[in-house]
Formats: sequence, structure tokens, C-alpha cells
Amino acid sequence: MALSPYTKRPPLAAMAILFDYLALSLLSTAASAGYILSDAGISGGKDLFGEVLRDEAVTRLNELGKVSDADGYLERTFMSPASVRVGNLIRGWMGDAGLRTWVDQMGNVHGRVEGMNASAEALLIGSHLDTVVDAGIFDGSLGIICALSALKVLKINGTLGKLTRPIEVIAFSDEEGVRFHSTFLGSAAVAGILPVTALQISDKSGVTVQDVLKENSIEISEENLLQLKYDPGSVWGYVEVHIEQGPVLERLGFPLGVVRGIAGQTRLKVTVRGSQGHAGTVPMSMRQDPMAAAAELIVLLERLCKHPKDFLSFDGHCNDISVESLSNSLVCTVGEISTWPSASNVIPGQVTFTVDLRAMDDMGRESVIYELSNQMYQICERRSVSCVIDRKHDANAVICDSDLSTQLRSAAYTALKKMAGEIQDEIPALMSGAGHDAMAMSHLTKAGMLFVRCRGGISHSPAEHVLDDDVWAAGLAILAFLETHM
Ligand code: GLV
Ligand code: MN
Ligand code: MN
Repeated sequence: MALSPYTKRPPLAAMAILFDYLALSLLSTAASAGYILSDAGISGGKDLFGEVLRDEAVTRLNELGKVSDADGYLERTFMSPASVRVGNLIRGWMGDAGLRTWVDQMGNVHGRVEGMNASAEALLIGSHLDTVVDAGIFDGSLGIICALSALKVLKINGTLGKLTRPIEVIAFSDEEGVRFHSTFLGSAAVAGILPVTALQISDKSGVTVQDVLKENSIEISEENLLQLKYDPGSVWGYVEVHIEQGPVLERLGFPLGVVRGIAGQTRLKVTVRGSQGHAGTVPMSMRQDPMAAAAELIVLLERLCKHPKDFLSFDGHCNDISVESLSNSLVCTVGEISTWPSASNVIPGQVTFTVDLRAMDDMGRESVIYELSNQMYQICERRSVSCVIDRKHDANAVICDSDLSTQLRSAAYTALKKMAGEIQDEIPALMSGAGHDAMAMSHLTKAGMLFVRCRGGISHSPAEHVLDDDVWAAGLAILAFLETHM
């Protein structure tokens, strides 16, 4: 067993953190007492604004879901033609909700209403307009649409001007990081944590972030990028509504939940180089095959992430809870692999694959990466191939602000009570294994999130689905939250 840097006690908060599926096992006793809205369930009422918060919101989500760069599936990456079209649609809907709009130099679309005091600290509400490849229609869009429909209700009621602070909705240009592998290009710029070097990151075809912005008539310099950072003194907090992307709320029978925290994540790019050759002539014993090496590396990753305790050494300072926390929350994925020259009768010269690695425990994640890298290099050496591990992205775990979470919980409670009459159980609190713009925004201001139940816990898939009434519940919750700022 190799030495690991995992020698310090992780923060107490991290010890207490459990992933969705663990929360599921702890909370499942409440499931029977749960609370279910179905598409057929709610008849509507005059203070429920179903036409805007449900019908129009769902229509808009479907409309956004049709705007894709690909034929036959949904794909919108940073500043792609479809992303720009969606940005324009959202901008129009921001105007429809009574907001003043603009697009910033990272392609984020903003809509703002000043309320009664334009110089008060602003409440920011956001999510992302980009998608993964072959995406569902709710990931990202749901948070933007719910915020806009709640503000539209205030406009219809004539109460937009009564807000005691500015409210700004931001549709972030990149959260998924599909094109540039860097994630949060939009929100990190607003939060002031995007390094200026991000402008020079290039995609597979060598086009940089700066080039893509230029193609869209946005000239951005390093200085402009730094100016996109919001003054923390001008911001009150950040709120995000997002599809849960996991099965907990459905199992508990709750349309809404409050997010306690978000797992930290790292993305790696692993390049393995060997000796390109003829598939028919090079004897097996004489090969330096990067494909077979990559296969061994990927299986190593799976073993390490399934059984971290077997790989990492703990020095006695680390108690069982923190070890358990890592074991329970660590997830690792190889989602993309490419080979050169990629022909069936050629031993590849090079194989590249991505690693996405997440855990609630930041030190634990570091120690996994350390151990993984060590063992990967050993495997490559043994196989006489070269191996380069590039760290493409890191985001530490985030604990949501507890006051903001209490306020969101009470807004969710108000919304569900309005829709269902009575609620017997507490609004659930859960951890997020998925990354969100709230991670970047937590560097600027206090951040809180509401999760919305999804069917079967499925996301990053066209099968992703949120009930119409749950879209409604989320809109009502944001409306109730906004009303506390009057
Ligand atoms: C975003 O959806 C992520 O968690 O990768
Ligand atoms: Mn996503
Ligand atoms: Mn998302």
C-alpha cells in the first residue's frame, strides 16, 4: 500500500456530509409519509398562478429543449449557435418579466430589476443555459425559467417595484464544460475566480475560448475578464433552483428539497502514448499498446473508487467517519475516450481519456488523485508506454449557507402547503453529487439551492423528466422567497 497525503483530519462539516444515496437510505423511513403532486393532482387556485408558473414555464422549457446544435439530440455548448439562440430567447423572456437585460463578455445573459432601492445588495438567481451532449431539457434551464416565471407573476401583480433590493437573474453560458473541459466559465467570471488563462483554453479543434467569443462579436481581453467580477459588497446572496438529478426526492415523495452542500470535483485528461504499428505483424510480446494500457488504467480507477479504503493509508488521525465519508461519496467516471489513428487494423499510437472524480471530502479527493496518479505511472512504466495526466478542472466541495437554506426551506414549505393544503413532513435536505454554478458563486457570496424532483433520478439523458406540477411548485417557492424581499 503506497503512502498517501491523507494525514489530516478533514473539517467537521465534511465528516457529516453524505451523498444522495446515503441520504436516501437514512431518510427512506419518511417516504411513506411523503407528499406527492402528480400532473393530474392540482386543480389550481387564484394565488397559485398556474398559467404562468406551470403552463408557460413548461412550454418555455420545451421550447428551449428544441434548440440544439445537433440533429436528433440536445446539445448546446459554450457560445455555440444554439446557445446564442437560446440566450436570445431567454433575454426576450427576461424583458417579458419586466427586467432590464444585457449580455456580458463571457456570454452570460443578465436580467435585472432594481426594486425600491437600486443601491441595495442584489439577490442573484441563476443557472446555466448550456447542456451536455444528448441532454435532457431541464438541467440548467429549469432554474432560469422558474426564476423568470416568478418575477413575471410579480410584474403581473404590480409588485415588482416593491422589491426592497435589486433582483438579477443570470443565465450562465457554461456550467457543463463540455467544449473546453473547464466548467463554470460563465459563473466563475462573475464570481471573479476564472483565471485569465482560461481565455486561451482550446477545444478539440484548437479554437480558444477567446476565439469563440470573437466569432460572436465579443472582444474580451484579460482586463475585461477581471472586470466581470461582481463587487461582493453589491451582492446579498445567490440562489439556484435545479433538477435534483438523483432519486432521493422521488423516493421521499417530495417535489422540492433544500441542498445542504455540493461535492467537490476534479477533471483529468490522461494521454497514453505507445508505439503505433501494424495489427497483423507486431507480436503481442513486442507491443507498446496504449489501448491495452488505458484499459488497465480505467479498471484501476474503478477499483480505487469502489474501494478507496483498500488503496489509501490512513494514519490514525483520520477517524472512521471521515473514511466512511470518502467511501460513501467518491464517484469516478471515464466518459470520453479517443484513439489515434482509430482504425481496426492499427495498434494505436495514442489514447486519451477523461476522468471525472467527485467526493464530499476535499482532502480525500486529493489523496485519491495522488494515489491514482502514482499507480497509473507505475502501470505505464511496466507497459513501456508514456503517460501524461493533465489536471483540467478543480472545484472544492461547497456547504450551502445555513440561513439562506432555512429561508429556502420555508419558501418551499409555503409553496407546497399552498398546493397540497397540509404537509406532514419537513422539506428534505440533501447533498448534491452534481456540480452547479452555485459552487463558483459561493466564492462571491452566500449561496443556497433548491432541488426539484425528477423522474427515476435520471439526468444527463434525454429521459430526464420533471412533472409539470413540480415545475409549478419550484416557481411558487421562488415566488414565496422573492416575497420575503418586499
Ligand atoms: C454538471 O452537471 C456536472 O455535475 O457535471
Ligand atoms: Mn448537467
Ligand atoms: Mn446543471
